[in-house]
Amino acid sequence: MNITILGPGAVGSLWACYLQKAGHNVSLWTRRTTPSELSLTLNTQENSSYSFSCDNKESLIHCDLLFITVKAWQVESALLPILPLLSQETILLFMHNGMGAIDAIENQISHHPILQATTTHGALKENAHTVKHTGFGHTVVGPFNSLGNQCQFIQDVLQHSLPSTEWNSDIQTALWKKLAINCAINPLTAIYQCQNGELSQPSRHQDVNRICHEVHQVLQQEQIQWTEAELLSTVYQVISATSANYSSMNRDCFYQRKTEIDFITGYLLQKAKQHAISTPINETLYNQIKQLEENLL
Ligand code: PAF
Repeated sequence: MNITILGPGAVGSLWACYLQKAGHNVSLWTRRTTPSELSLTLNTQENSSYSFSCDNKESLIHCDLLFITVKAWQVESALLPILPLLSQETILLFMHNGMGAIDAIENQISHHPILQATTTHGALKENAHTVKHTGFGHTVVGPFNSLGNQCQFIQDVLQHSLPSTEWNSDIQTALWKKLAINCAINPLTAIYQCQNGELSQPSRHQDVNRICHEVHQVLQQEQIQWTEAELLSTVYQVISATSANYSSMNRDCFYQRKTEIDFITGYLLQKAKQHAISTPINETLYNQIKQLEENLL
């Protein structure tokens, strides 16, 4: 397939390498103005290098799959300017933390097949040319609209490139579960500037448990079938499996970048408001991160 990666950060670069390795014709679309070539080294045992064309309009015009890996808050500004170049058959596949970014531009892209995906693969961009695959994980992909529902074959494309993957026609549930985990881990690790593992300490349990209690009330109203006990045990499993990692929001604050808070806790708060659910701890965390962002940016 002709595939363009929009936003080759850590996750985008990882998929770029594995898709190219599987034989696809992959190009990158970045924010640079001058077209250039980019080599990415996949820092696993094999250390292979891949070469991609960059910011090539022809590639975009002929792309079958646009794999959008920019952060949720960048989706609109990255995608809308290039939309006129795409054929209406081009499949749009979104992979980012958080929810609500597609809803904001839905009317402008609804003529495309749209897919959403979430992954637990770990990736680290060590420098502009090197991406490290820090942990093998699992990817869930599913349809955002009815045209997307006809594109189940994309799961095979992903599976042959970077297993394991699964097609889930109820991708919203998978995204809500990921959002719930991010609500519990990301703001706390950003505010305390700690590794994920620190949240397993007894002194942090009360915060994690209170966040999850509020999140669970919203999940229930959104018809997500997950008990509070299941949510808590999944959150503590992720904390333990990623104990040495710094969460993405921790890194964003550390490097003084804009965070994904509006699409994680912010999205939760919007939904809580619609259902008239009180979420004081999540509101406090949201305000603290917004304050940090204001001081940093
Ligand atoms: O955003 C992140 O960092 C990750 O989604 C997670 C699961 C919290 C692990 O660090």
